[in-house]
Order: sequence, then structure tokens, then C-alpha cells
Amino acid sequence: MQKKQIGFELSIYESPDELSQIEQKLLSEAEAARENAYSPYSNFKVGAAVLLENGEIVKGNNQENASYPSGLCAERVAVFHAGAIYPGMAIKTVAISATSKDYVVDSPAAPCGNCRQSIIEYEQKQKSPISIMLRGEVGPIYKCNSMADILPLAFSSSFLSDS
Ligand code: THU
Repeated sequence: MQKKQIGFELSIYESPDELSQIEQKLLSEAEAARENAYSPYSNFKVGAAVLLENGEIVKGNNQENASYPSGLCAERVAVFHAGAIYPGMAIKTVAISATSKDYVVDSPAAPCGNCRQSIIEYEQKQKSPISIMLRGEVGPIYKCNSMADILPLAFSSSFLSDS
């Protein structure tokens, strides 16, 4: 029997001033996108901004539904939107921002498991890492270098055939 530790590097920024110009812009685009979320059931608004290799930024936000599972998270709205309008264009970074009507979100909002799985598909397809930046409404910003870092042992298309 062997034991293996799996770890990853997380960068923690106290404020957006510590980010690069493009990262600051991406985060503020995620914050702007968040405001158009449709979230009457959770009162939790999430915005996501996707930076593509061609420099374009594509945004999305959570879209809820009276039939709860029919709704979709901000991250998937954004990356699917990017895939739909710029097919094959690599994704460099996804910034995520969250706020609530009920309390001040002061810790970084982490993507749910379904969003991690959806984003890692693009990472595997493009064969280059997608960095992920997370923030609440206020407070620190977390950045990880790759979706694979926060979804270790991920399922992928390689399991679907033996080639
Ligand atoms: N939500 C997101 O948009 N992204 C996540 O990664 C987690 C949760 C949304 C879904 C739902 O509209 C609301 O937040 C509460 O779960």
C-alpha cells in the first residue's frame, strides 16, 4: 500500500489592488455580471467572467428556475456562452464573484462540483490550464492555477474508451 498526498498552490490576495491589470478587469466584469443574475429563490447572485486567449471577456450569471434543478450556475452560463460564440478558443482564466441579499459574502465563493466538472472538460480539451479567481462581495481573492488543482482525480472522456 502506498499513500500519496495531493496538494495545490493557492494564491491569496488581500485586495484587488494586488492583482494584475487584466485580473482586476476580469474580476470587475464578474462583479458587473453578478448584478444581472436571476436568483429570486436563493437571493444569491453569482457572476462569472471568462478571459479567452484572444483577449475577449465573456460573462454569465446564475439563472434560477421555479423547478430548481433547471437553473444553471454562473460559471456554466459563462463558459458555455464562451464555447458557443468562440468555439475552440482557449480559456485562460475564469473569475467568480458572489453576493447575497441576506448577508455580506466575505469569503471567496467556490465553484460547485458540476461547474468544476464542466470547466475541467475545457481544460482537458485545450490542453492548457485554466486559472480560477474567486471572491465574495468583499474580502480576499483566491486564485488557483488550474481547475485540475481543485478537482483532483477528475472524470474525463479518456474513461469512455480504451484508445
Ligand atoms: N451558484 C452558482 O452560480 N455557482 C456556483 O458555483 C454555486 C452556486 C448559484 C446557483 C444558485 O442559483 C445559487 O447560486 C444558490 O445555490
